Formats: sequence, C-alpha cells, structure tokens
Amino acid sequence: MSDNTLISIKNVHTHYGRIPMLIDVSLDVHKGHVCCVLGANGAGKSTLVKTILGMVNADGGSIAFEGQDITDWSTHKRIAAGIQVASASIGTFPKMTVETNLRLGAYTVHEPKVLAERLEEIYESFPILKSRLQQKAGTLSGGERTMLSIARAVINKPHLLIMDEPSLGLAPIIVDEVFRVVKRLNQHDNISIMLVEQNANKALSVSQFGYIIQKGQILFAGEAEAILKSEFMQNPIM
Ligand SMILES: Nc1ncnc2c1ncn2[C@@H]1O[C@H](COP(=O)(O)OP(=O)(O)O)[C@@H](O)[C@H]1O
Ligand SMILES: [Mg+2]
Repeated sequence: MSDNTLISIKNVHTHYGRIPMLIDVSLDVHKGHVCCVLGANGAGKSTLVKTILGMVNADGGSIAFEGQDITDWSTHKRIAAGIQVASASIGTFPKMTVETNLRLGAYTVHEPKVLAERLEEIYESFPILKSRLQQKAGTLSGGERTMLSIARAVINKPHLLIMDEPSLGLAPIIVDEVFRVVKRLNQHDNISIMLVEQNANKALSVSQFGYIIQKGQILFAGEAEAILKSEFMQNPIM
C-alpha cells in the first residue's frame, strides 16, 4: 500500500447465504482521485459498496482505510471515520423536506454553528436544492433527488465519497450535470471519490483510474485513459 492509498481492499469475498457474490476482490482508491468501478447490472457493485460500509460481511480478506484495518469495524464507526455513500436507494426520506433531509443527513456534524455553515456551503454548491428547501424529497425530480443524495453525503465532508450509480435513470442532460458535480467535488472540494457506474464513457472521463467488475470478480484494473482506449470499450461487457 503506497502512502497515497486512501482505501485498500484486499482479497475480499462475500456471499449471500451459500451463493458467492464477491470473489477475491482487491481494489485501491488513491487520495485525491476519482476511481470508477464499472460493471453491468448484477455484477456485484452495490454489494462491494455495502461491504466497504460493513453492511455486508467480508468473508476473508481485509479493508484498510487511511492506514487502519477497518475490516471488523461497525458501519457506524466507518462512517464516523469519514466514509460516506451517496445512493438513490439509501438515505433520503421521501416524506420529509429537502432541508430536513440535509439536517438529518449531517449526522456527523454535532455543533449547530458548524451545521449552519455547512448548510450554507451546500446551498451554494447545489442551488437547485436551495430553491426547494421546503419541498418534500419524494416530490423531487430524479435529478434533484440525486443531487440531494449527493449533498447529504457531502455535508459530512467525507474523506471518501462513494457514489452508487448517480446517473442511473436520469435524462442525458441531467447525467451531464451529475458528472460535472462529480468533477467539481473532486477538483474544487478535494474529495476522493469511488464512482460506481454503468455509464463507462462518462465515468472514465472524470476518473483517473478504473476497475471493471464482472460476476463478482475484478476483470480489469487500469488508468482511465487506458480503459477508454481498450477493447472493453469496443466490446462493452457493461
Ligand atoms: N441481500 C441479498 N440477498 C441475496 N442476493 C442478493 C442480495 N443483494 C443482492 N443480491 C444479488 O447479488 C447480485 C449482485 O447484486 P448487486 O451487488 O446489487 O449488483 P449491482 O449493484 O452490480 O447491480 C445480484 O444477482 C443480486 O440479485
Ligand atoms: Mg447496484
């Protein structure tokens, strides 16, 4: 593990009941990078995300975050250490307002003054949310809900932001906006990002490094530019 490694997953296996899901998965995300994990539906991407969060048990192998072995840590402890997930399927409360969702999402922020500052930062970065603070999250458009899921992770100032298919189900123009946000969070706010996606072209265009996962196994790992030029893009398995 180099000094620059933020999270290092080594030889992790997981299974659902007796069915193996992740098979000998090893993957590193470097500090300051966007690292994408590409794979088709059912490849095991969300299982990998849940394993990193400790919501699915790693069965063998290890996970180190900022140099500490977190393999046996609770989900709560991992989040407190600075891992946040933005996912359309985890986290937002549809019957609560955008503002309440952001306040509840900021569960690692304990000081009211700091929370107020963080909310202001979020309103500046996500003006679309500022204009909808009193709207119930369940009535937001798909793109707005995606922005809310990202904002409620970002408000905690994560050291590692994991984004689970942020572009899923969105219109092309909104997809472009989502990838612009990914780039800005990385380049402007210096957040290291693990970007889980099926949209390989767009994800690679904002990433330094990428992994291709197929049937629970890492099929390929390499520089984003190399993957963009590789046979995988001609003959996509995603
Ligand atoms: N809790 C679960 N119990 C049993 N099988 C599951 C569970 N969650 C996911 N799976 C199965 O594991 C496989 C990988 O799922 P997932 O990690 O969600 O894939 P992806 O996010 O790449 O689409 C799928 O075949 C899925 O049906
Ligand atoms: Mg998934």
